[in-house]
Amino acid sequence: MKGIILAGGLGTRLYPLTYATNKHLLPVYDRPMVFYPIQTLVNAGIKEIMIVVGGPHAGHFISVLKNGKDLGIKHLEFAYQEAIEFNGKKIEGGISHALSLAEDFADGEPITVILGDNTTDADIKKEVTKFKNGAQVFLKKVPDPNRYGVPTFDKKDKKKIIDIVEKPKEPKSDFAVVGLYMYDGKVFEYLRNVKPSVRGEMEITDLNNYYLKQGQLDWSELKGFWTDAGTFDSLFLANKYYAEKKL
Ligand code: G1P
Repeated sequence: MKGIILAGGLGTRLYPLTYATNKHLLPVYDRPMVFYPIQTLVNAGIKEIMIVVGGPHAGHFISVLKNGKDLGIKHLEFAYQEAIEFNGKKIEGGISHALSLAEDFADGEPITVILGDNTTDADIKKEVTKFKNGAQVFLKKVPDPNRYGVPTFDKKDKKKIIDIVEKPKEPKSDFAVVGLYMYDGKVFEYLRNVKPSVRGEMEITDLNNYYLKQGQLDWSELKGFWTDAGTFDSLFLANKYYAEKKL
């Protein structure tokens, strides 16, 4: 199992904090945000990691992480996500596009993917060890599902996901699909079928729905604290939680 952290984008929702550095290097209590997803992977035994970076401050990652040894990483690689053309405009491309850059690194092996602004203290070792094929997503009950990818469950079989909708106006459940995913070796072939959404991003939700349609999507509930940290409120929430917890 290899690990991929997606840390591209411009972090516009956090302007002016992200004028001078990358979102994923902003502090979450006593460490840069990206340390948390790295720790989640390393604690699960995943020590070969690629970080997909982007934007004008991508070089800052090297200053902060160096070769990753201090964090328990055995092998650290970087990829740079360039803006893509969409309807005559240059756009950042989205999460699925960022992931597609890790194809050579993954080299056919299963991968655990985590978004660089997702922080959790959940232990995913059991899921990582058990994972064989298809895709696995993690769900978390949230008060504001409309900010996330949201699963719709079958009316009869309440444990069966029948669809995932990205940022729905009327969410069909109170679960968020968290930014932590496991995929088998077919993921890059499937990614080639993902087209940019109306907001001009290649959505990770479209990839997950693709697996779902093949009957290859599994899920479990994420145990422990989880939040993204990509907005002022969620960044504050993450800071507060980890300050009080004192890891
Ligand atoms: C992304 C995904 C969304 C997921 C969320 C988790 O949203 O598109 O499905 O629930 O991460 O943090 P974004 O960060 O683009 O708002």
